[in-house]
Amino acid sequence: MEAHGERLHAADILSQLAAIGLEPDGGITRLLYDPAWRQAQQAVARIMGEAGLSVSTDAIGNVYGKLEGTDRDAPSFVTGSHIDSVRFGGQYDGALGIAAGIAALSKLKQSFGQPRRTLEVVSFCEEEGSRFPLAYWGSGNVTGCKPFAGSLEAADAQGVSLREAMAGAGYDPSAHRDCRRTDIEAFVELHIEQGAVLEREQREIGIVNAIFGQRRYFVDVEGRSDHAGTTPMQMREDALAAAAEMIVRLRKAALETGDGLVATVGMLEVSPGIANVIPGNVRFSLDIRHREETAIEDFCDRTFLSFSAIAAQHRVTARYTCWLSELPSPPMDAELRERLARICDASGYAHLEISSGAGHDAGLFARICKAAMIFVPSRGGISHSPLEYTAPEEIERGCDVLTQLLYQLAYGEEGL
Ligand code: HGY
Ligand code: MN
Ligand code: MN
Repeated sequence: MEAHGERLHAADILSQLAAIGLEPDGGITRLLYDPAWRQAQQAVARIMGEAGLSVSTDAIGNVYGKLEGTDRDAPSFVTGSHIDSVRFGGQYDGALGIAAGIAALSKLKQSFGQPRRTLEVVSFCEEEGSRFPLAYWGSGNVTGCKPFAGSLEAADAQGVSLREAMAGAGYDPSAHRDCRRTDIEAFVELHIEQGAVLEREQREIGIVNAIFGQRRYFVDVEGRSDHAGTTPMQMREDALAAAAEMIVRLRKAALETGDGLVATVGMLEVSPGIANVIPGNVRFSLDIRHREETAIEDFCDRTFLSFSAIAAQHRVTARYTCWLSELPSPPMDAELRERLARICDASGYAHLEISSGAGHDAGLFARICKAAMIFVPSRGGISHSPLEYTAPEEIERGCDVLTQLLYQLAYGEEGL
């Protein structure tokens, strides 16, 4: 299927969304239920309407655009991604999958009319875990596969609970269990690679085979605040000195472990945070990932043993709270991967099978239905940064592959 004007539709949708939550110094910040998030979901609903889709919003703010099939009782084929972002993130992470899904359904509707099977594009309310200590709030509630421990009482950095934020955005917190879907036959997500493999291997399309598992923790180190001038070095219970040693040890252990394991400390809070006070309390985050759960488990066990030894040396205590534990995804659906490879070959797009170190909504869907992911290149492999970039022609190719797959599933005779 050759690219048409509608392909610009995805790029146009992206540029409309990229203007929402734009930070003064660059980058996008759209956090669950905040004003930018609400503006973005309203824009998505408007654009879905303009594309001729029937639009609905569920109890937690997932926005769906539907192209009803003639076979009204058959389960849906769904595409889409998440509308939220990290802080100062890029304009493609998540939003591309939503824009491409709307573009694909509008093109199919315009070119072929009503499909045999229902097609939907969804803008999930939250996936990143950027505001509250939970992630996948959107697809986790839809699939029922919730990898987070948090609840409606989970609070953001300002102490606002998820419950309060939901109510403030006009959603009924008690209704969040009403989002569960059991009428989806397959979920297909177009996403930027967020790595440099496609670029390095000079391939245009990535066909994802599996998604890494990940665990995210808070590490709370408690010492004793004291006077910076009068407390002898050997008498201190310095929470930051201990935390700093833990963080250096973490990086060393991850490098020694190798085999694709990655460990990140992205957040560090120091209290009371004043130059002439020895820090009494420190909280830092841990993000540990690998393609195998046993490797994650083993690394975490070793890490916390070494952290506890460091804490003892500094006469402080350390507590570990896991708030996200996502198992490695089941393999992406073999038949959908085969279809994607055939579409790429027929379209002349160089492709390769690739695993994903980044987590995605498709990873949860793979636990309840057929799932597939299409990657397009990220320039320099950069993501979660204002420098995130994917060229228009790369977006077009990704949209074209997605559109062809959705055509086969919803209009083709063979279906799945
Ligand atoms: O952090 C991730 O893996 C994804 O961007 N949510
Ligand atoms: Mn992301
Ligand atoms: Mn993403």
